[in-house]
Amino acid sequence: MTFPDTDIRKVSILGKECIHCGFHLVPYIANTVIETLPSSTYVLITDTNVGNLHLPLFESEFETRLSTLASSPKPRLLTYVVPPGETSKSREGKAEIEDFLLLHKCTRDTVILAVGGGVIGDLVGFVAATFMRGVRFVQIPTTLLAMVDSSVGGKTAIDTPHGKNLIGAFWQPEYIFIDAAFLESLPAREFSNGMAEVIKTAAIWDEKDFASLESRSSEIFAAIQNPSASFAGRTSDTRSSAQELLLSIIFGSISVKAHIVTIDERETGLRNLVNFGHTIGHAIEAILTPTILHGECVSIGMVLEAEVARGLAILGQVAVGRLTRCLRAYNLPVSLSDPKIASLPASRSLTVEKLLDIMKVDKKNSGPQKKIVILSRIGATYEQKATVVDDSVIAKTLSEAVKVIFGTPSKSPVRMATPGSKSISNRALLLAALGRGTCRLKNLLHSDDTQVMMNALVELKGAKFSWEEGGETLVVDGGAGTLSVPEQGKEIYLGNAGTAARFLTTVCTLVRSSLADERTVITGNARMKQRPIGPLVDALRANGSAIDYVESQGCLPLSIAPTGLKGSRIQLAASVSSQYVSSILLCAPYAEEPVTLELMGGVVISQPYIDMTIAMMKTFGVDVVRERDRSGKLLNIYRIPKGPYVNPKEYAIESDASSATYPLAIAAITGTECTIANIGSASLQGDARFAKDVLEPMGCEVVQTETETTVRGPPVGSLKALGLVDMELMTDAFLTASVLAAVANNAPLKGRALPDGSTLTATRIVGIANQRVKECNRIRAMMDQLAKFGVETRELDDGLEIYGKPMIELKEGVSVHCYDDHRVAMAFSVLGSVVKDTIIEEKRCVEKTWPNWWDDLENKIGLKVEGVDLASVDVSASYSGMESPAESASVVIIGMRGSGKTFIGRLAATALGWTFFDADPVFEQRHQISVREFVRKHGWAAFRAAETKVLKNLLEAHPTGHVISLGGGIVETPAAKDLLKQYAKRGPVVHVVREVDQVLQYLGEETARPAYGEPIVDVFRRREPWFAECRTHEFINYTGVLNGIDSRPAESVRRDVARFFKHITGQEPNLAPNLADDKRSYFLSLTYADVTPALPQMEELTAGADAIELRVDLLRSPKDFDKIGPYVPPVTYVSEQIASLRQKTSLPIVFTVRTVSQGGNFPDHAEKEAFELFYAALRLGIEYIDVEISWPSKRIKEFVTHKGYSQVIASWHDWSGKLKWTGHLVEDIYQKAASFGDIVKIVSKANSIQDNFALYNFVTHKRLTTLAKPVIAINMGIEGQMSRVLNPTFSPVTHPLLPNKAAPGQLSFAEIQTALHLIGQLPSLRFFLFGTPIAHSMSPTLHNTAFRILSLPHKYELLETTSVGQEIKATITAPDFGGASVTIPFKLDVIPLLDSLSPDAEVIGAVNTIIPRRTPEGLHTLYGDNTDWLGIRNCIQSRLPATLHKPEVALVIGAGGTSRAAIYALYKLGVKKIYIFNRTKTSAEVLVDAFSNLADIHIVPVLGEWPGNPPSVIVSTVPASATTFDPSASEGLYLPNELFDNEHGGVVVDMAYKPADTPLLTLAARYAKIWEVVRGLDVLLEQGYAQFHMWTGRQCPRRAVADAVWKAYRMS
Ligand SMILES: NC(=O)c1ccc[n+]([C@@H]2O[C@H](COP(=O)([O-])OP(=O)(O)OC[C@H]3O[C@@H](n4cnc5c(N)ncnc54)[C@H](O)[C@@H]3O)[C@@H](O)[C@H]2O)c1
Ligand SMILES: [Zn+2]
Repeated sequence: MTFPDTDIRKVSILGKECIHCGFHLVPYIANTVIETLPSSTYVLITDTNVGNLHLPLFESEFETRLSTLASSPKPRLLTYVVPPGETSKSREGKAEIEDFLLLHKCTRDTVILAVGGGVIGDLVGFVAATFMRGVRFVQIPTTLLAMVDSSVGGKTAIDTPHGKNLIGAFWQPEYIFIDAAFLESLPAREFSNGMAEVIKTAAIWDEKDFASLESRSSEIFAAIQNPSASFAGRTSDTRSSAQELLLSIIFGSISVKAHIVTIDERETGLRNLVNFGHTIGHAIEAILTPTILHGECVSIGMVLEAEVARGLAILGQVAVGRLTRCLRAYNLPVSLSDPKIASLPASRSLTVEKLLDIMKVDKKNSGPQKKIVILSRIGATYEQKATVVDDSVIAKTLSEAVKVIFGTPSKSPVRMATPGSKSISNRALLLAALGRGTCRLKNLLHSDDTQVMMNALVELKGAKFSWEEGGETLVVDGGAGTLSVPEQGKEIYLGNAGTAARFLTTVCTLVRSSLADERTVITGNARMKQRPIGPLVDALRANGSAIDYVESQGCLPLSIAPTGLKGSRIQLAASVSSQYVSSILLCAPYAEEPVTLELMGGVVISQPYIDMTIAMMKTFGVDVVRERDRSGKLLNIYRIPKGPYVNPKEYAIESDASSATYPLAIAAITGTECTIANIGSASLQGDARFAKDVLEPMGCEVVQTETETTVRGPPVGSLKALGLVDMELMTDAFLTASVLAAVANNAPLKGRALPDGSTLTATRIVGIANQRVKECNRIRAMMDQLAKFGVETRELDDGLEIYGKPMIELKEGVSVHCYDDHRVAMAFSVLGSVVKDTIIEEKRCVEKTWPNWWDDLENKIGLKVEGVDLASVDVSASYSGMESPAESASVVIIGMRGSGKTFIGRLAATALGWTFFDADPVFEQRHQISVREFVRKHGWAAFRAAETKVLKNLLEAHPTGHVISLGGGIVETPAAKDLLKQYAKRGPVVHVVREVDQVLQYLGEETARPAYGEPIVDVFRRREPWFAECRTHEFINYTGVLNGIDSRPAESVRRDVARFFKHITGQEPNLAPNLADDKRSYFLSLTYADVTPALPQMEELTAGADAIELRVDLLRSPKDFDKIGPYVPPVTYVSEQIASLRQKTSLPIVFTVRTVSQGGNFPDHAEKEAFELFYAALRLGIEYIDVEISWPSKRIKEFVTHKGYSQVIASWHDWSGKLKWTGHLVEDIYQKAASFGDIVKIVSKANSIQDNFALYNFVTHKRLTTLAKPVIAINMGIEGQMSRVLNPTFSPVTHPLLPNKAAPGQLSFAEIQTALHLIGQLPSLRFFLFGTPIAHSMSPTLHNTAFRILSLPHKYELLETTSVGQEIKATITAPDFGGASVTIPFKLDVIPLLDSLSPDAEVIGAVNTIIPRRTPEGLHTLYGDNTDWLGIRNCIQSRLPATLHKPEVALVIGAGGTSRAAIYALYKLGVKKIYIFNRTKTSAEVLVDAFSNLADIHIVPVLGEWPGNPPSVIVSTVPASATTFDPSASEGLYLPNELFDNEHGGVVVDMAYKPADTPLLTLAARYAKIWEVVRGLDVLLEQGYAQFHMWTGRQCPRRAVADAVWKAYRMS
């Protein structure tokens, strides 16, 4: 057997040398497999992407070799290709492959080859692990990720909707063939994806590997970017150096993983290490998959986990920086704010809370504790396994914002070095590299510039670098100025590092080579290719260097001839950048002739930086002389001698002086001590004067040596104002000075006070005009942010003035916006050390100069820092709506006089079970005078002041559990309005609104309150906006006359008040229970321009529905009825429409404003108007608000923070038919919608019936995933009709009575039930009545009518038996048992057959309803309830007179079983005292015993003789035939007129229903006109409705059922 020469590098794993690496291996693979793994069948499995590219070669190589085999029959090669992508890695995907294998009669000796990425490897590996109990397999990874990670280690798995990789096995392949040539066809993004794992492995294990990854990214990319011709690389002599590098990188990475796996195959400790970056990375991936790839998430995870290590003071910043830069060099994202990520809709879900929540289920965790691999330096970890890390530490790292915990720095006296100065770091690095000998650079600020310069100098063979002390020290082995041309064809890539580009341009002219055609090329990214370099190039060219522009003139890339720098005279235009000057100065000693540098063009900018370069050159042994003219004036001419730099052994880079101001200022403000090593009076940086020039005059003790600065602050609170201070020489430090000035509350030193007599605590900072054009307008920024603390400032032309205040007067809890400016963030953290709960919003902006500032603040200074999740902090309070409703926060009621505040307030208090207060009586009581009198005596002003005080007291004294109604004029004073607005942040302020004319009419009748001194209508108009300002909610108390409904029954008001207040207080949000219970739910779409004509039929229309959708976009106010085209309905009209709907129904409302482009009638871009409507909906207590996700995210996000207990349906409608239920688009839409909404709604259009199955799969999948939101998924059109049947959540339904359907294909509730039944999703059930005698029962009519109306396929039958025996037992355990009613005499006997009872049935001691409950396993348990009491209660409640909120006294006649339910109903109505009348006293006594703990129960011996007030509710439970109101009758119970003694009226119930009008009811009708009567059949119906609801989860269609029952009753 022959095959081409192939050079292989082998790695052994688990004791076997089975990983073979090289290039172009296919012939080698075929040969090795066939020779060493003999088999009858080889099965190659791949995906279409890889198959299209590489399958033919595999096939031909295998066929060639198989055909030459002697054996017979010859082994066969089968191939199978699956679709690409993660979705193939599923149970279905596995089953398909298995079926293929079985179909082709594969046996135990089969060898399976997995050719592809990790998806193929994992899937095929798992098939191999279980097929025929395991067959041999071979991994041939084709992605980098698969090569270095997934193919090595034997882990195989598939995904389920519950999560990734949940099912799998450990199954080791026979071989892993790594053919790096496959990478040439891999998309660049996939390559980077794999590089994340390569970098990870180096980071935990091998610093040397890491260093080469760090410096050689462009070579590594080059290796895959240029396809290798004629199998180059197969043998080592044809391998390019780039290929060699790539292979060694892969080889190194695999070796580490193989080593770790060999030691710890089953991942018990060490193998955990390969999960570096994965704890956080996986959590991110869970949210961003599939849009963002695994490696990309892990890349961010690694940076964050490295920051965790830094926060724990285990890892230094240099290492974090190196890791970050290295990942970035491979085009990987390094933070969550990377635009690629931040722009994704799903990124909104990346909250700290959610990420922590996902991390909870990480496999590495031990119990609830999270584990993270902690780096201790590049190439090593803190432990040989993952380390337990506290949640708070992770939260801090993940948070975008931080809170500085105020207090005294615990590390005082602090001694620290701040990060090295950037300019000094750049110069020192270059000097040491060009110098002779070894130099240890300490305190280097490692940045993009230094990284790029290091890489370049290595390529130019100009110096060697290594790290010591875990990265704290950079060791530079200087090359004494000898530099060579980089390797053939290689360009030096500088990214966007500006300083590096300028410095290196001259450095490259120093390169020498004897080969004339060699050139040095420096280039950069697109941005760099636009930055100017012209003046420098001109100067060098003029001096004789040959430099060409490769692309555009005046910019990089440059091609530079290796001819050395000539020297002698160089002229440079220096008015653009001092860095050109420094560049030439730094290189000049290596020119052939000593250089004289002459700066041309007048003004030289940034002289201090030139001086800095010269001073540093001196330290490295080269003395530059600046010439003077005869008068001794300095000229812009510099003479630089020849000669190598001589490296000092060690060079400590001076700290950045601006950074040093922050720790020093903290010492000053907290009265502690701080020393900054590395910066002193000898410093060249202007900001080094800060201590002496600013802190000392403020009262600090300052000791400054040449190299060190120590500051000791005065006692806390005694800083002095500065008066006038010119900061021109230290402009960057003005922000630090400003925050100190804010709390400098003492007079300035003598002579510093401002001459123009401003306040004594003023500090006037001048000379800083340039700060307006820094990262942000810093002067404005300081003024705006200080204002949040309550500090006053004044802007000046070239500065600002700050008025110091005592610290304790500064506002606490301020959230500081930083404008992405590091100096703003650090300055305000100084203030945060003394002002409680200061939040710095963008903590990451410090990365520019002090990436570990927050860690240093905690670890070196000793101030604690906590993470803050801004997502949970409200951003704005510009809209009404509670921001953070407190539990049971009291409700405040406001509104015009006469709007019904007291009435509504009382009803609300009753419904909530809270206490009601009217502010007027409270006022009168407190002042012992009527309001009217008070005003007459003291005037309006005094009254308003006193009223405001009462309000304040009330709110303070009753923060929870109260309903407080306020006077109509409360909004007249700003103080009271402020109180209300303040209150509105935590509790509801409800504005009760009533029609003006109704108010006028009411007020005309009233005299008790002070008269207005002006027309009431004017008062009305004036106050209207004030009410609007203060309210969070609006209750519309329209008393009638709304479009033709003339009077509103008390019951309707009571019901609506209960619904509204229970909803907005969260006591019982009015949400659809079926939705929460994962049952099927529906809403009826109302498509009217005006809904009022439909109101009379509302009950019929809503039969079966869980909610009503109001299509607000279809509403049209009457005056606009004939307008056509898109339309914005006025808010007032919409409110009225809702108010009238509420009169008829308590079903939750879905408030929908559908835009034109999504199929509605609302204009597409009327954003402001749309949100006005949405906020109006919240105010009105609308339960569900449909918000299209196409509105601007910021708007939606803000809206959502105000939603209170209402829910948001985030919707997307695509009518085009292009939206598919599989793939990224629908996933992205879902993610975006889920990030805002409580419910997701996605509507598409079906093109075929298949689209409905796809939809169903999508929803089912979502329902199974954790943290999923309910999804409304609909396909439009006739083809999509089926989706309306399958969709489980809030299916929109229509009704035959509606004028037109809301959408094509819409079905009615009844139609859907029929369809569900036909497709087996709604089996028919049997229901029964148990009892005797029951032949005349109305229950079958009741329930069967309801079943018919709702199209439910059930049946209700009678089951008459003499005892509770076998027959009943068999019935209730049958699988199709749906439920039963139980009547006399079995209400007690049936109890032993049941598994559990409702608490109500328990107390009453009787059951009238049996409900089977199905467990998830399909078994049913039996539950007993009692609806008799509900029937009685509901009947009474709906008939109580409007004025009777809570009946106090009631009478029950009779003491049998029904009276137990009656007493319980009365107790639930809040009745305190119950009289019982019964012929036999002993049975009455039994009741007293049983219920005495619920109410005060008295036996009355004679009807009409009351032991207290006469009753306002009467319930008779005795047979009608046993009663009479004829005093002369000899038989029966006599009913006297005194029963109705209560002159306020009441409700009388007779439970007997034969005849319909019993003697009791007849008497009431005759004698007591103001009493309401309830007939026995009314109660029967009510309890039946309740039963029906318990069994079916649906509202019973009451009116139609009642009609049918009454009809049957009359006929019987
Ligand atoms: N078992 C383990 O230890 C382990 C470890 C890490 C990841 N994984 C799994 O690996 C999977 C991800 O692997 P992946 O990143 O390789 O994804 P992948 O297999 O989906 O491949 C990525 C894409 O590149 C294409 N492709 C593959 N090779 C190509 C080539 N040479 N040329 C052109 N296109 C090519 C594929 O068709 C696919 O579209 C995930 O399912 C993950 O769970 C497993
Ligand atoms: Zn991974």
